[in-house]
Amino acid sequence: MTENCFMHHRTKVLTIDTMNPNVKKVEYAVRGPIVQRAVQIEKELKAGAKKPFSEVIRANIGDAHAMGQRPITFFRQVLALCSYPELLEGNEFPEDAKERARRILQACGGGSIGAYSASQGIECVRQDVARYIQERDGGIPCNPDNIYLSTGASDAIVTILKLLVCGEGRNRTGVMIPIPQYPLYSAALADLGAVQIEYYLDEENCWSLDVSELRRALVAAQQHCSPRALCIINPGNPTGQVQSRQCIEDVIRFAAEEHLFLMADEVYQDNVYAEGCEFHSFKKVLFEMGPEYSDTVELVSFHSTSKCYMGECGFRGGYMEVINMDPDVKVQLTKLVSVRLCPPVPGQALLDVVVNPPRPGEPSFNTYIKERTSTLQVLAEKAWLTEEVFNTVPGITCNPVQGAMYSFPRISLPERAIQQAKEKGQAPDMFYCMKLLEETGICLVPGSGFGQREGTYHFRMTILPPTDKLKIVLEKVKQFHQSFTQQYS
Ligand SMILES: Cc1ncc(COP(=O)(O)O)c(C=O)c1O
Repeated sequence: MTENCFMHHRTKVLTIDTMNPNVKKVEYAVRGPIVQRAVQIEKELKAGAKKPFSEVIRANIGDAHAMGQRPITFFRQVLALCSYPELLEGNEFPEDAKERARRILQACGGGSIGAYSASQGIECVRQDVARYIQERDGGIPCNPDNIYLSTGASDAIVTILKLLVCGEGRNRTGVMIPIPQYPLYSAALADLGAVQIEYYLDEENCWSLDVSELRRALVAAQQHCSPRALCIINPGNPTGQVQSRQCIEDVIRFAAEEHLFLMADEVYQDNVYAEGCEFHSFKKVLFEMGPEYSDTVELVSFHSTSKCYMGECGFRGGYMEVINMDPDVKVQLTKLVSVRLCPPVPGQALLDVVVNPPRPGEPSFNTYIKERTSTLQVLAEKAWLTEEVFNTVPGITCNPVQGAMYSFPRISLPERAIQQAKEKGQAPDMFYCMKLLEETGICLVPGSGFGQREGTYHFRMTILPPTDKLKIVLEKVKQFHQSFTQQYS
């Protein structure tokens, strides 16, 4: 071997210059630089560093259990029984939990949740999902063949985007996403090299969605790509709005007229707090609009075990329902999910109890309802509290948190702060959130991580900290905002 050749072999095959350029474009603010700094600060605190606070409070991510929310007892009983079936012999667990666990186990290979399942998901779980959807939607039929279980909603969303993306140059697939958006969408589109088409939600009208804005974004995008899909997040993340039935109808009509594939992210379907607001599923509205729409419009809707009153993010359970999908594409979808073998079986088991919870008359019913109602009630109270406190602060305006788990208030920043941020090469709201973290230990996500109208600044804060802690957080943010404004004015 010549020396030259040896040198050649010593350079890495995979370098920052030779790696997949799409991956480098991926950004995910929810776990971005602020969170990395928060982890560092936690280590510094542990090592005895003196700070103006004693703990880091993570209000950056929609992870309910991490913020102290208790799991639903029945769900964990069933999961315990599924994980350790010997418990079925004892008297510690109620009969309805045992019955659910036996049913799940009997559908698992070798009677164990340690076995792979069918790639589309365990059949009896898909049947339970279909029945749940049918009941939720007032009897509109749901076919278990249209249900695909997934590794959280994230996995299903990426899978569908994968099916949609093709073409080069002006023919490259464009996907319409809301701004502000949940950054899974921008990240997945960057990864897949698809074109991101941004439609803006209307902050002045409670972050509502207006079809004229959809049309504006679509027409502009038609100049440089081929728009093929429209993503909706309802209830919204990070913006917390709940769409009216009328709005959903308008969106469906728009998708039909413009020949767009609809993706409805409905992971917060039980998280609706505001009076007069109600969750309407895209599926239900589509079918109520009659066969002209329900026989033609292609729709995929997503749900997850991670949110609502469950908050079971770590189980990575979820499903999607595909409607009016071309049968040949469905075969391809089934093939694609089979490459990954199957979603985690414990996540499928958990999803099963979410869609098939204790019924009236069963031993666990009362406890289940009590726990579920109280979790949602506390979230609703925290949603109101957050809006109320933020709106007392000069320079902060907060829309009602109608649903989901976040507030997304607008902050006005002094010109000098904006200038300083720019000098540091930071987005002004990143500069603000970083300072907030350093001074108070509160970890939020800057609005720039979700997208926002040019010249406006926001942050996203979860409503998940326990009420006592949330009150402290709100008070600290209030004081910080006032002193920040003074310092830079
Ligand atoms: C709107 C939305 N969609 C999807 C997800 C992904 O959830 P998971 O993959 O945990 O189901 C989230 C998580 O925060 C979300 O907010």
